[in-house]
Amino acid sequence: SQFSKRELWSEQLFKETMPKRNPFSYKGNHGRGLIVGGSLVMPGSITMTVQAALKAGAGLITAATVKENIPIITSNCPEAMSIPLSDVNGFLVNDTSISTSNYDAIAIGIGMGRKEGTTNLVRTIMQANCPLIIDADGLYHLKSSLSIVKKRQAPTIITPHAGEMAMLLDVSIKELLLSPFQYSLDFAREYGVYVVLKGKFTIITSPGGRQIVNTTGNQGLAKGGSGDVLTGIILAMVLQHDDLLQSLCNACYVHGKAADLQIEEKNTYYDLMATDVISGIPNVYRTLF
Ligand code: APR
Ligand code: MG
Repeated sequence: SQFSKRELWSEQLFKETMPKRNPFSYKGNHGRGLIVGGSLVMPGSITMTVQAALKAGAGLITAATVKENIPIITSNCPEAMSIPLSDVNGFLVNDTSISTSNYDAIAIGIGMGRKEGTTNLVRTIMQANCPLIIDADGLYHLKSSLSIVKKRQAPTIITPHAGEMAMLLDVSIKELLLSPFQYSLDFAREYGVYVVLKGKFTIITSPGGRQIVNTTGNQGLAKGGSGDVLTGIILAMVLQHDDLLQSLCNACYVHGKAADLQIEEKNTYYDLMATDVISGIPNVYRTLF
């Protein structure tokens, strides 16, 4: 198939490239991350992204979301900080009070919906001078903002599933899946972004054109919330690595492997929940020692 003879990420590469924790480190050494997203009708997705980012090792995480979501996030994850953002009818709108310069990396898009008023918030956050991960509905808002992404100086990472990638490219999912490597490569080069095209085999493409396939993960992940957890793990890995491509490969590896180990030890393909994937992260980290 088109996946044979491809560069694969492996347990050995994870072990070689996952940064060791310095015994004298403090929270600032493991990164300050911001997660922008959520809406009144979708409080759970950003909650899971926040939990996953902290569980995967981020030093400090702040959630910027509609005010009603903040007690939900902090009651599920008291380690998180929060910033209430302006909304109209429960959906985020542009809010220039937010300062992006306080963060080492930002993730945006999770559970924010596709209201027109939200696009300008995404554009404001795109001005940030740090690595930016764009996921889920953020990708919808990105579609009308692609000229801005080209001008960004700091790295941009997009994390579409096949439907979202097809939407960005204006092709059918069927057409995309005939040539997922070529479509990812063309998009990464044209817009200067890292593309994490999610699926059974997730394809990670750098703006320079290197392509790596992740092979961990299983059908238990085919359930709402899995992608939101991946975004949190990606944010944590970007905060902890120097090499961005390695951080994305290790994030996809840990996400899939956490799900695989939960299937071996605790869950079945039917009952695996996105929150079980978060709880499974320590099982993956333990393989490092
Ligand atoms: N095998 C291996 N991995 C899988 C499988 C499978 N059969 N099915 C799903 N996965 C993995 C994908 O590789 C990806 O990492 O689970 C994750 C699913 O991510 P998404 O497709 O983004 O799913 P979801 O969590 O539902 O997204 C939440 O964002 O993309 C939007 O429309 C989506 O509103 C929804 C929200
Ligand atoms: Mg998703």
